Amino acid sequence: MTGKKGIQSAPLRGRRVLVRVDFNVPLDAHGQVADDRRIVEAMPTLDHLRTAGAKTILMSHLGRPEGHRDPRFSLKPVARRLSSLLGQPVPVAGDLVGVEALQLTARLENGQFLLLENLRFHPGEEANDPGFAAQLARLGELFVEDAFGTVHRAHASTVGVPKRLPSFAGLLVEREVRELSRLLGAPERPYAVLVGGAKVRDKLPLLRSFLGRADHLLIGGALANPFLLARGARPGASPVDGGLDEEVHAFDRAAADAGTEVLLPTDVVVERPGRSEAETYPVDGIPDDAVVQDVGPATRAAFVAALRPARTVFWNGPLGRAEDPRFADGTRTVLGSLVGAPGYRVGAGGDSARLARDLGVTGAFQFLSTGGGAALEFVQGLELPGLAVLPDA
Ligand code: 3PG
Repeated sequence: MTGKKGIQSAPLRGRRVLVRVDFNVPLDAHGQVADDRRIVEAMPTLDHLRTAGAKTILMSHLGRPEGHRDPRFSLKPVARRLSSLLGQPVPVAGDLVGVEALQLTARLENGQFLLLENLRFHPGEEANDPGFAAQLARLGELFVEDAFGTVHRAHASTVGVPKRLPSFAGLLVEREVRELSRLLGAPERPYAVLVGGAKVRDKLPLLRSFLGRADHLLIGGALANPFLLARGARPGASPVDGGLDEEVHAFDRAAADAGTEVLLPTDVVVERPGRSEAETYPVDGIPDDAVVQDVGPATRAAFVAALRPARTVFWNGPLGRAEDPRFADGTRTVLGSLVGAPGYRVGAGGDSARLARDLGVTGAFQFLSTGGGAALEFVQGLELPGLAVLPDA
């Protein structure tokens, strides 16, 4: 389905199989796994390997320890969660490579698992150092890529290892590619895209990639502020990435040429100093001291009207500061209106899947990706190094 060799065709029994997973999960204040979705989503592949009698060596990163061993980024809490999901112990190899790791992997029996400590404790991982990749590859006989969330990184474990071992796509990678591919090519129309969040500079390439491909592009959150500013509205005291006027004007011209309708907020919910109640204003009447925190009721209604008839919807990012319950209503109302509506809807990128769950609107989606940046690059049609390196079926 991915066009890549899948694990169904891999000779697994009795083999040491190195599996790249993305167990980069949030930890809570006590260092415990706060959201285990990425671990749970890896289970079909892990179950398949266990049933097939593989000796599975799992590799992942957690956070960004930048090449240093830092106990705050240890994978031990992940191993505990994984052990309870699998119903069997998953020991952690403290040393990623070298004698200890080789001995531990050599002792594995069919159906057993070993988790290597955080790959990013070693500087060779992010540098895609050939020596480090070769040492990792020595631990296994086959490689399985199941870390969809990390396939946009050209690191030792995602690119260096598969160049050195017979390699296969795992079941999560296959599923992600199958689902997200429905947004490429010819998605069923009307196709509407809803993008929120804050980082305008990061998201402009994503927004541009939908021009001509989507019928409607709905922009909310702080992301909308530079667009409002370029149209002459003043978003009060909200932080706005400056100097983007020219790019925004060029974007608008490109959207008009491409036939993609861009919808922006027409009213907003704001917070003002010294006032505990949130207030709503039209975008051309925002007080100077107000900080925009959510989309207003008229905007919600307009967004819902554009999204409900759509046959394909892609969503990324909150429409306001949704982590604060006072400002979550815009995102909740708009996404909640899609629960049970006909059509195919995908949510992806950053914390979008987690947010959908926290807001109780997962039912709006046929698919919620485990990918952050990887999913956003995939839906732009970019080549992802961790996928490109895998052999075709
Ligand atoms: C993610 O969470 O998006 C992936 O695990 C990749 O993490 P990174 O952005 O630190 O490379």
